[in-house]
Amino acid sequence: MEFGDCMKDVLMVNEDYIMINTGSWGIVPKDIFNHRMNLIRLQEENPRYFFCEKHFELYEKNTSLVANFVGADERNIVLTDNTTHGINSCLISVPLSEGDAILVHSFIYLATLKATEKIAKQRGFKVRNVDIKLPINDEEEFVQLFEQKLENFPDIKMVIIDHISSSVPILWPVEKLMKLFKDRNIIVLIDGAHGPGQVSLNLTELDPDFYSASLHKWNFVPRSFGMLYVKEKYHEDFYNIISGARYDWKPFRKRFQYLSARDQTSLFCFEKSREFVEKVGGMDNIIKYNSSLMKAATKMLVEAWNTSYLPVPNSMMAPNMSLIKLPCMKKYPIPEEAKEILFTDYPELLFKLNEEFHINTSVFCLNGEAWIRISSQIFNSMHEYEKLRDVILTLSNE
Ligand SMILES: Cc1ncc(COP(=O)(O)O)c(C=O)c1O
Repeated sequence: MEFGDCMKDVLMVNEDYIMINTGSWGIVPKDIFNHRMNLIRLQEENPRYFFCEKHFELYEKNTSLVANFVGADERNIVLTDNTTHGINSCLISVPLSEGDAILVHSFIYLATLKATEKIAKQRGFKVRNVDIKLPINDEEEFVQLFEQKLENFPDIKMVIIDHISSSVPILWPVEKLMKLFKDRNIIVLIDGAHGPGQVSLNLTELDPDFYSASLHKWNFVPRSFGMLYVKEKYHEDFYNIISGARYDWKPFRKRFQYLSARDQTSLFCFEKSREFVEKVGGMDNIIKYNSSLMKAATKMLVEAWNTSYLPVPNSMMAPNMSLIKLPCMKKYPIPEEAKEILFTDYPELLFKLNEEFHINTSVFCLNGEAWIRISSQIFNSMHEYEKLRDVILTLSNE
């Protein structure tokens, strides 16, 4: 099947906008949106039947399909609201002692960092940080940053790494890092918000302790739809951060299956999303289309703006997202505070692109410079990035 503009007929795309920000929000096929609406209708028309019978049948079926998709035993998978929900649940459950340290890194997603800091404070853990500097020359150098930190701080008992980081879209060398951490008995939580759907995944082989993801980003399901992998040895004492009547039920998966009368219908759309993926040509073709479009768009923009893209080795470039330096725009100076801190928003340009030019993307300041993050998904085509190219060139000439 062909990808590009023709896909806009079957996806919930607002055609008044150029949507090149799937990495932030995801995209849902119209049929799947309607399927979810039908489930909500069923839930409203007969809540007793839905919550006491249908809900569990659908939860089980969709959990099995998700487990199969991420290469895991379904006994190790629970469905969550999102990555944040899974990460919070890990942090309240992980078997660390007061005084132990958790290692994070400077490109960590803010919600993940804040959850870590909050729960670490409550449980008496320290939080240590790996300062990742750009450029990154090769994977070994990157892994060494972590190795050095573990050498210097023997109190580190757990690490939180990304699979694909967000604002700075790097595909992490997770296999190499896993080897390092395993050799040293470090507990690993992978923030996999952007993993499944952007790359194929086999969690049994990768074997982290925990892996938390948001399937709504790259898998054609509605928000909120997350998944969490928990290795068997943690099941007994693993708790959902949202406690309900089933908070201590066994096996631990039951602690996530029913969160009082909460609408979890988004979670019951995975089967339909698999049908959609097969209908349009399969996951491999989707991954191939998105990554080659991203490569071509990145090259074209960098040449037209005479700037550069994220300085990381090819093997660490995220398949469907790219970070490109913006040319100087005198009329839109970057905020003063951007020079002092690693990340800051660049709201003036963001709003201009969104409101005036209807280009939905992500712009921010990194190390005091202005960057733009673009995404690719099967409804995108080169002409959309060309429009972005021209708008930025116009703004830079104002
Ligand atoms: C790396 C990373 N982690 C966590 C999250 C949080 O995801 P959610 O809002 O679905 O919980 C995001 C969202 O963009 C992300 O990019």
